[in-house]
Amino acid sequence: MENVVVLIVGAGPAGLATAACLTQFSIPYVIVEREDCSASLWRKRAYDRLKLHLAKEFCELPHMSYPEDAPTYIPKSLFVKYLDDYMELFNIQPKYLNRVESSKYDNDKKCWSIVAREMVEGITTNFIAKFLVVASGENSAENIPMIPGLHSFPGEAIHSSRYKSGKSFSGKSVLVIGSGNSGMEIAYDLVTHGANTSIVIRSPIHVMTKELIRLGMTLSHHLPLNLVDNLLVMVTKFIFGDLSRYGIRMPKMGPMILKSKIGRSAVIDVGTVGLIKRGIIQVQGSITKIMGNIVKFQCGDEISFDAVVFATGYKSTTNMWLKVICYL
Ligand SMILES: Cc1cc2nc3c(=O)[nH]c(=O)nc-3n(C[C@H](O)[C@H](O)[C@H](O)COP(=O)(O)OP(=O)(O)OC[C@H]3O[C@@H](n4cnc5c(N)ncnc54)[C@H](O)[C@@H]3O)c2cc1C
Ligand SMILES: *[C@@H]1O[C@H](CO)[C@@H](O)[C@H](O)[C@H]1NC(C)=O
Repeated sequence: MENVVVLIVGAGPAGLATAACLTQFSIPYVIVEREDCSASLWRKRAYDRLKLHLAKEFCELPHMSYPEDAPTYIPKSLFVKYLDDYMELFNIQPKYLNRVESSKYDNDKKCWSIVAREMVEGITTNFIAKFLVVASGENSAENIPMIPGLHSFPGEAIHSSRYKSGKSFSGKSVLVIGSGNSGMEIAYDLVTHGANTSIVIRSPIHVMTKELIRLGMTLSHHLPLNLVDNLLVMVTKFIFGDLSRYGIRMPKMGPMILKSKIGRSAVIDVGTVGLIKRGIIQVQGSITKIMGNIVKFQCGDEISFDAVVFATGYKSTTNMWLKVICYL
């Protein structure tokens, strides 16, 4: 049993920022992390060529700036270095390899009771905390859709979180499933490494440049969102032209409103759209089933692939250990 004032679950950017802010007020805390390092998403589960999608002014943690000469879009390695420096500055020492397994609020004692399991020896600690901070992220577990026949696929089938680079896919036919930021960038990366690449684009998406998103985020502080959206959509149409004939449809809602209402981000083009227009990346619609190497699509096409990358996003697993309806 361990008594703490604040228990923070997760040592990602959000958990580290919370720890630093508490330190500023001399409020004691304990931070527990299931992995053996902080920011595990960035260190272990992100592809090599990843840069922050948003300009640095929108991705800074409280009380510490990026170095003066940092590029506008911070590469993964620099972001990890920044987080390491941040932890050193605020002397943040997470309890690694401790996974929170359950938590409940005691209404009489007005405190949380949280059980964490140490992953090596299996020993559990029961934390009694006045406050619980849930910083376990939205990217906790891989989301892989159920596709009939997937088990019969003989080639490599991996989730985007395990994709590092296209090096090992050179000369292979690869299908990327999912067209968010990860899927679109992985498709580009595969082509640069000499893979014959196709991508499944099912839902409508906004394709933008990172500079346009930066402009949109800056303008949205001064103008109504629908006005900003109209401007962004006009400029993207001018830059990319009509993409619907390449299988990329635009949502009815504008990009900023979509982000604020549903949380869905626009896709930042890293060069993928150009490759699609030139026919170097093939766009496919929905998959109906898989039979061995053959993937069957709703349009009737049947195409053989050597490997599949699921860029189908993540699930939060917080609901597995935080059983609350609402404590407000
Ligand atoms: C490929 C990719 C690119 C992205 N690019 C950007 C970007 O450019 N800009 C941006 O703002 N956002 C971006 N994001 C969004 C991303 O979610 C954030 O960047 C950021 O990592 C979220 O921080 P977080 O601390 O909330 O969660 P995370 O970074 O996911 O950290 C949560 C931590 O909690 C730990 N944890 C989970 N469950 C438990 C448990 N039960 N017990 C103990 N520990 C637990 C996890 O191991 C993890 O280390 C990107 C995401 C991805 C996947
Ligand atoms: C590349 O993949 C497409 C299917 O998406 C296929 O029609 C074509 O033959 C492949 N090309 C090579 C060189 O393998």
